Amino acid sequence: MIRRNRILRQTPAIRSLVAETILRPEDFIVPLFVVEGKNVKEEISSMPGYFRMSLDLLQTEVKELWSMGLRSVLLFIKCDDAKKDNKGTEALNPDGLMQRSIRTVKDACPDMLVMTDVALDPFSSFGHDGIVENGEIVNDATVSVLAAMSVSHAEAGADFVAPSDMMDGRIRAIREALEAHGYTKTGIMSYSAKYASCFYGPFRDALDSAPGFGDKKTYQMDPANRREALRETLMDVEEGADIVMVKPALAYLDIIREIRDAVTLPVSAYQVSGEYAMIKAAAERGWLNEEKAILETLTSIKRAGADMIASYFAKDAVKLIG
Ligand code: PBG
Repeated sequence: MIRRNRILRQTPAIRSLVAETILRPEDFIVPLFVVEGKNVKEEISSMPGYFRMSLDLLQTEVKELWSMGLRSVLLFIKCDDAKKDNKGTEALNPDGLMQRSIRTVKDACPDMLVMTDVALDPFSSFGHDGIVENGEIVNDATVSVLAAMSVSHAEAGADFVAPSDMMDGRIRAIREALEAHGYTKTGIMSYSAKYASCFYGPFRDALDSAPGFGDKKTYQMDPANRREALRETLMDVEEGADIVMVKPALAYLDIIREIRDAVTLPVSAYQVSGEYAMIKAAAERGWLNEEKAILETLTSIKRAGADMIASYFAKDAVKLIG
């Protein structure tokens, strides 16, 4: 034998020397769920160990994240049922929960990168990502609301808006609206290749945002499709996205790699709520080692080509790699 591959695997020292993929705290985007109230911290039933929190606790949380080396958060809010309607009117309220959340994070931690979810579902009485007319999710009217919502988030201080809706043409519309209002420093992280996935189930529990009728297959992508992901992503690049995203992550590693090879922009991946829940559930039963499963999945997502990862395991990961 002239080549023994095991030489490079013999000790922790040599393994760490030749490791090709290294997770860093700065790689992570921390999703946060915000609710109205004071001193509220509610565990999400299908996401054990993950919480919805009120603004006062959000403040403490982001300070802790910052002290751990985490530098980016992605905000989601749970809207009261009474404020939901078909057009997502509450999403544009300058004093709405999202706008207050943005200001709260910026007050507590001015250098934290604040990204915001842009989509109608948390605000929609139908639980859909767009306006509903005659049982259909209408594209163009929705895009106008998304653009206005993005301007409102920028005005409140968001660094990035993150449209997660999959309507056609929304990146261009958002970019033009930001430009028109003078928000030339606000970035767009586009959920470019977002699949119609069962792995969003626990998230919809978290925000009480499950679709009231039908499913999201007329706007989110068919898991069977690969070329379509490229088409969607290349269009978002042309329309002015700053970061593109693949979602979910683990079942779509091939798509992450394909997109990493096809674009020059940063690529993010979202390890979604169902991916979190699967690992938690198996670990609870003693069927998987949670810590190892966290590191292995996150490393795989980065190895596949993700430059950054939105993950509910961000804090756990930072502790494990620290
Ligand atoms: C909604 C939105 C969803 C997620 C992020 N934004 C759910 C959906 O599309 O139904 C899912 C995130 C997760 O599951 O962790 N626009």
